[in-house]
Amino acid sequence: MLSHLLHRLGIESVVLETRSRDYVERRVRAGVLEQGSADLLTSAGVGERMIREGLSHDGINLRFAGEQHRIDFRRLTGRGITVYGQQEVVKDLIKQRLEDGGEIWFETEATAVEAIDGDRPRIVYLEDGVPTTLQCEFVAGCDGSHGVASPAVLGSTYERTYPFAWLGILAKTPPAADELIYAYHERGFALHSMRSPEISRLYLQVDAAETMDAWPEDRVWNELRLRLAEPGLQPGEIIEDGITPMRSLVTEPMQRGRLFLAGDAAHIVPATGAKGMNLALGDVRVLAEALAASYRSKSRDLLERYSEVCLRRVWRAEHFSAWMTALLHRDPEGDPFEHKLRLSYLRYVTTSEAAATTLAENYVGFDGA
Ligand code: PHB
Repeated sequence: MLSHLLHRLGIESVVLETRSRDYVERRVRAGVLEQGSADLLTSAGVGERMIREGLSHDGINLRFAGEQHRIDFRRLTGRGITVYGQQEVVKDLIKQRLEDGGEIWFETEATAVEAIDGDRPRIVYLEDGVPTTLQCEFVAGCDGSHGVASPAVLGSTYERTYPFAWLGILAKTPPAADELIYAYHERGFALHSMRSPEISRLYLQVDAAETMDAWPEDRVWNELRLRLAEPGLQPGEIIEDGITPMRSLVTEPMQRGRLFLAGDAAHIVPATGAKGMNLALGDVRVLAEALAASYRSKSRDLLERYSEVCLRRVWRAEHFSAWMTALLHRDPEGDPFEHKLRLSYLRYVTTSEAAATTLAENYVGFDGA
């Protein structure tokens, strides 16, 4: 996305991608776009398929203690969300970049970022196993939390781990509800999401150390049926499955010299708030504008404030994601006091207009942080 935005601003870039095109286009990730993210894709001319195939939702459902409540985003905030898989966004962006003659070097592993404090930073990458140098004016570290960019900033890390993970499946079965269902159950959290009228995306809270071996298909469907309490959910062929750990992490600052971190390289959120892709898109929107301003007017103001501007939005999303996670997951110790507190808070969020608005405005994306 950054490369595409820069191209539209007349700035050349090269994207180094460790994996193959096939791998990144297939890798299943979360699928919720905040209104601002959907608007960004559309205004940048890469939203055509998302508008056609994405599912517009005006709210979510919360289920707990045998009750179902809807949080009406549209009424509470005037905004909604679009359910559209992250790898679909990736496919659309790659296609557009290649059509525009953009350079994406697939299966090219960056091994270091050097000289970021000077005017000519470098990326070292492997070409046929031989370390080779790419000289740049600026480097954007969009290489995730295990990449080489993040440590080069020498910043501070703020981190939280959780004693549970998400087991996710993609299944050939029609979604049993029109909107997402977030369920808090004594057996643990479950989420019902979707990708299309034929494909559902479903998640279960499992212990952090769990592996797929312990989860044959019928156990997965059984558990989903119990926790979601959704009679309309029919088992179907599982096309993809996997276990994703839950983590909260922020690196501060998000920049040093001519290196700027964006997306997971700078921050990780647990998937409960569906914020990961939205935060990354928010970062690169700010970064593209700041880079353009520095070329246009030689003014470094915006670039210098990149981290500060991003971190306000990032920390709001970090809080929201950790809060949603605490609200909806069973703690493995099963503390009964915590359970009662959670039920009380869920009732509050679903009956108080003020509390419901807090959830809604954060879910659709709060841009006043
Ligand atoms: C998804 O559809 O994959 C999804 C939806 C909502 C979440 C996380 C993942 O909070």
